[in-house]
Amino acid sequence: MIKLAPNLRVLVIDDMPSIHDDFRKILCPAPSARSEVAALEMALFDDAPPLPASGAAAAQYEVEFALQGQEGVARVDAALTAGRPFALAFVDMRMPPGWDGIETIERLWRLDPQLQVVICTAFSDYSWAEMLRRLDVRDRLLVLKKPFDSIEVSQMACTLTAKWNMSLRASLQMSGLEDEVLQRTSELRRTNAALESQMVERKHLENQMLRQDKLASLGQLTTGIAHEINGPMDYVYANLSTLAEYFNAMQAMLTAYGKEFGAMPDSPARLRLDQLYDRLELDFLQDDVPVLMDHSRLGIERVRAIVSDLTDFSRVNTAEPWQWSDLHRGIDATLNLASSELRARADVVKEYGDLPEIECQPSHLNLAVMHLLVNAAQAMGRERGVIHIRTGRSGHGLVWLEVADNGKGIPPEVQQRIFEPFYTTKVKGTGLGLAIASGVVQRHGGNMEVHSTPGAGSTFRILLPVRQPFRTG
Ligand SMILES: Nc1ncnc2c1ncn2[C@@H]1O[C@H](COP(=O)(O)OP(=O)(O)OP(=O)(O)O)[C@@H](O)[C@H]1O
Ligand SMILES: [Mg+2]
Repeated sequence: MIKLAPNLRVLVIDDMPSIHDDFRKILCPAPSARSEVAALEMALFDDAPPLPASGAAAAQYEVEFALQGQEGVARVDAALTAGRPFALAFVDMRMPPGWDGIETIERLWRLDPQLQVVICTAFSDYSWAEMLRRLDVRDRLLVLKKPFDSIEVSQMACTLTAKWNMSLRASLQMSGLEDEVLQRTSELRRTNAALESQMVERKHLENQMLRQDKLASLGQLTTGIAHEINGPMDYVYANLSTLAEYFNAMQAMLTAYGKEFGAMPDSPARLRLDQLYDRLELDFLQDDVPVLMDHSRLGIERVRAIVSDLTDFSRVNTAEPWQWSDLHRGIDATLNLASSELRARADVVKEYGDLPEIECQPSHLNLAVMHLLVNAAQAMGRERGVIHIRTGRSGHGLVWLEVADNGKGIPPEVQQRIFEPFYTTKVKGTGLGLAIASGVVQRHGGNMEVHSTPGAGSTFRILLPVRQPFRTG
């Protein structure tokens, strides 16, 4: 705590110079004359007891004098301007021709409300009640009746200057407390904000973990389902082509029969066969069977595509050896694979940064990039678009990869769901592309973000660590 030197400045306002002398002797005795002071006081103030050896009388008051109220007010004003306010003023009640004590005190307090005041009076033009009513501030005012007693004067000076100093200290402490409260409040606000952002981060992590769990169990499930579906689908697909061959043969046979029937003479047997032909609508069947078989083949191809996506999906949850690999080589290979899908819809612009090799499961990463590229291509409208593939380093052992398109963009309500497995807005989509990609990225300890403006395009950004210090599989 700061220690302030006590303020012992006293102002005496009295129209009698002799009274000034009295105050001077009481409040500022010459050190050598200290013992004489008591005697003098005895003479001056009748039965004044000796001054106390310690306390205020021993303190060094700094006393100034004024003969009139106006002069007193000017001194208080100057003291305030100089930053050296008075702690206490002794004010005489009657000071002709100028202001009386009450008016002087009113003006003093207007300038300096903290000033402690003693009004000195032998008799008054006012009743006490009226005096107090006019001044109204009783807690800073004492009354000293003349003739006064030196001990009364010294005790008042001691007590009131101490009171002034205590009030100052209290108000400093209050403002110190206020500062502290303000500081604590702003600290609390900062802590609060930090907590809030931690909560958001935690929620985000929880969601990520939940998604990863979901993906892991979905992965296991889909491995089983894909296996179960693949077997029957393979032979249904194979049988369909055989069926088509068989049907072609049957159709050739039927056509040959038809020709022979046409040449046969009418007979009951021919009539029965003709009726059966018509009833079975054999013409229609011959036309429709190939169409149905074609549709079935398309349906099976679609099922096989979904199963292959599902297999991809489960494959990314299986272990591929971790190795140090050049991300750019992987992207280039993926671009080659996807070229037929991309070529028709967009130009690809590569903006590769300077990347170190990263520890990764390269084919899984390639798969993730493939899904981003295919999505980007599929986002293009009638006009040919541009897909930018950018890479770069991002301090602290991280690298990033961006696939940006100028396609149709993703509306906010769709954006919230695009990483959900099986969420799709496409007629022929399975909704697994981004679930697979984000699963891969998460297994690499990275993260994926999307920024999209409907009508302008989307950017998918993947952040990956260079090393995998904590990898588990
Ligand atoms: N680059 C993109 N531009 C616009 N929309 C996109 C983009 N990438 C993804 N989407 C939206 O996110 C959805 C989910 O994408 P995701 O790749 O997971 O599945 P899909 O492309 O619909 O189907 P799949 O990839 O399995 O064939 C898409 O249906 C599409 O609405
Ligand atoms: Mg996709």
